[in-house]
Amino acid sequence: MKGLILAGGAGTRLYPVTSAVSKQMLPIYDKPMLYYPLATLMQAGIREILIISTSEDLPRFTKMLGDGSAFGIRLSYLEQPSPDGLAQAFLLGEDFIEDDSCALILGDNIFCGKDLKTRTQEAGENAEKGIATLFCRSVSDPERFGIAVIDENGKVVSLEEKPAHPQSHYAVTGLYFYPAGVAEKAKKVKPSERGELEITSLNEFYMQEQQLSVQLLDEGFEWFDTGTFESLYEASGYIRNRQQSQHTEIAALEAIAYQNGWISKKQLLEAAKQYRDSSYGKYLKRIAESVRQYE
Ligand code: G1P
Repeated sequence: MKGLILAGGAGTRLYPVTSAVSKQMLPIYDKPMLYYPLATLMQAGIREILIISTSEDLPRFTKMLGDGSAFGIRLSYLEQPSPDGLAQAFLLGEDFIEDDSCALILGDNIFCGKDLKTRTQEAGENAEKGIATLFCRSVSDPERFGIAVIDENGKVVSLEEKPAHPQSHYAVTGLYFYPAGVAEKAKKVKPSERGELEITSLNEFYMQEQQLSVQLLDEGFEWFDTGTFESLYEASGYIRNRQQSQHTEIAALEAIAYQNGWISKKQLLEAAKQYRDSSYGKYLKRIAESVRQYE
């Protein structure tokens, strides 16, 4: 399975902060924003990942993450010439995806929950069987999101992009799993009234073909779409509290790679040394010394 991270956009809602810095490099407490969606894909077991972004931001991401070998993964980068909607990611990423199933995560979406790994792995298995998966979460401001109406059997019966009068309070979050052939389907999406290739239109195809399943992120789960100052602040506070109360580091990429058996203890210790006395570096050292060795 392949993974795409769509990290485009000018971040205009975060001006003046984003006038010279990429939104996805802003800190969510103690790590750059992009670490979190990358960690989510890695926890799902995905090792081949394409980061799609603007020509200004790509060199910054490349400098920060390199070819991914430090995290036991393979990273590629691709320019999004113009922001024409989320479904465009599959058109741009067609050659990268080849005949594989593919997950998409938005660069500003942060997911936290104890069984996220199991749930995303399940979505990956479903994708191999031809079923797409959405992750939905109940919200108080549904008009800001793509919305799913879900029946009593847990089936998606309708989808709407940012409706003025939402029929449901379930937001479709920015994490999607699709079977092989998603790029072909994305080609059939027509631009919406606002001129975008909406992911909601792509999801509707799967719904109409009865190939759409949904995972509800309820109790014990947090999801942040960190496109505004309020949500940035809220997400940072949440990560800080969880890390401090549970003595952990969320989205520590090298630690996830080590726990997945993708990098050696030696590599983990080298990374720990590189981050020196930061809490991130100390955590990597602790993991290297406590978790069982894979090599
Ligand atoms: C996009 C999607 C929307 C989804 C949201 C999740 O909206 O169009 O369906 O609910 O991401 O973050 P945007 O954040 O681009 O406005």
